[in-house]
Amino acid sequence: MNVESAAGAAYIVAALLFIMSLAGLSKHETAKAGIGYGIVGMAIALVATVVLVVDEAETLAIVLLFVAVAIGAVIGLWRARIVEMTGMPELIALLHSFVGLAAVLVGWNGYLEHKSFPSQALEDIHNAEIFIGVFIGAVTFTGSIVANLKLSAKINSAPLVLPGKNFLNLGALVLFVGLTVWFVIDPQLWLLIAVTVVALALGWHLVASIGGGDMPVVVSMLNSYSGWAAAAAGFLLNNDLLIVTGALVGSSGAYLSYIMCKAMNRSFISVIAGGFGIEASGGDDTDYGDHREITADDTAELLRNASTVVITPGYGMAVAQAQYPVADLTRKLRERGVDVRFGIHPVAGRLPGHMNVLLAEAKVPYDIVLEMDEVNDDLADTTVVLVIGANDTVNPAAAEDPTSPIAGMPVLRVWEAENVVVFKRSMAAGYAGVQNPLFFRDNTQMLFGDAKERVEDILRSL
Ligand code: TAP
Repeated sequence: MNVESAAGAAYIVAALLFIMSLAGLSKHETAKAGIGYGIVGMAIALVATVVLVVDEAETLAIVLLFVAVAIGAVIGLWRARIVEMTGMPELIALLHSFVGLAAVLVGWNGYLEHKSFPSQALEDIHNAEIFIGVFIGAVTFTGSIVANLKLSAKINSAPLVLPGKNFLNLGALVLFVGLTVWFVIDPQLWLLIAVTVVALALGWHLVASIGGGDMPVVVSMLNSYSGWAAAAAGFLLNNDLLIVTGALVGSSGAYLSYIMCKAMNRSFISVIAGGFGIEASGGDDTDYGDHREITADDTAELLRNASTVVITPGYGMAVAQAQYPVADLTRKLRERGVDVRFGIHPVAGRLPGHMNVLLAEAKVPYDIVLEMDEVNDDLADTTVVLVIGANDTVNPAAAEDPTSPIAGMPVLRVWEAENVVVFKRSMAAGYAGVQNPLFFRDNTQMLFGDAKERVEDILRSL
């Protein structure tokens, strides 16, 4: 068996392992095994590719390959070790930008290589592949960079609303189609430069136009784009594994975006079309009145007399690492006969399942950790709701104010409870940058300070 067919066989095994990995990741119990399949698949793919290059290429190319792999591995290990759980989405966005950039470089290389083809039709297909690959790659590249900057709060997360923004996006798409036809007929360098520039600008604009609250969907959408970019590169490089893997990532990312949009009551088309239909909302200068404050001791008193308590955690609990004292508080209250449950919003925190992972880490029993839909109807009969570092996910404006940027997003209706205590450090807005009228309701009291310290204060008081 020659090296090429051995590598081809290894690629098929790797592709199967990737499919098994995805299947494993779909359930809690099999997720760890799923990760294992993915690692083995990737290792096989990497070794097969290296063997293939070593067999064919000259010394310089081999040296370059090993240097590139070594640099990539060192940076990858370093980043993976230091990344905080709350920083995962921005790291993922950055990784997607690399896939996009790689697809652009592969496309450009495909053009500059000047291969000869047995027929004109094959050459036309090759040119179309170059153009489409560069376009998807460049959109993914800049889009992911903007997503990374927004998620890491280096730029404002509010949607950019340029005049006629939908026409700008549509115009860029029409231009892309026109340029593709031109390039296939007459592959000139300036056309490739033009499509690269148009796609870079489109990627930037698409993601910049999407508001903070929709960012989770954007990250999974960029995940999907990066898959299609990889598949396009696979066609150019004639690499079956890249085509299969790219298609897997592309379609699973698109499906995840669709599920998230449904959960958040967002239009899928609107989000993938760069916030199509989202209008600028004027600054919120509504006077909501005054808020009331509560001390940790008084909160402890409130909890002592409560019969039912629901805890709705959010991003602030993750930042403060308050899950451990929260788990202790839960235990203590349950020992006193208080019915304690958790209400988890599908996008609480910064990545899907974020709160579930933290609570599981702190050994909170699974059976009292409920989904938003399971707990929402019970909130009206709850004595005390503790909102620990959550904000957008408990914002009544989403349900009551059609002009709010997060209007229509399902939220935990905590304001229906008898008493609400909100743990946060200030009156600052949440991730979507929207004021929260909950803080000014008559049954709401604010407990200011770091969530971990305040929960520990309550524990002492109890
Ligand atoms: P957010 O709306 O992000 O609000 C978190 C709150 O925690 C802030 O208001 C902040 O107020 C408070 N906080 C921060 N550090 C704290 C600390 N040490 N102690 C106490 N409080 C602290 O949280 P959420 O309700 O979980 O909503 C999640 C948001 O993130 C949504 O808009 C969602 O769309 C978005 N998002 C979600 C995901 C996924 S998939 N889950 C991914 C990306 C984005 P102070 O600054 O006043 O303390």
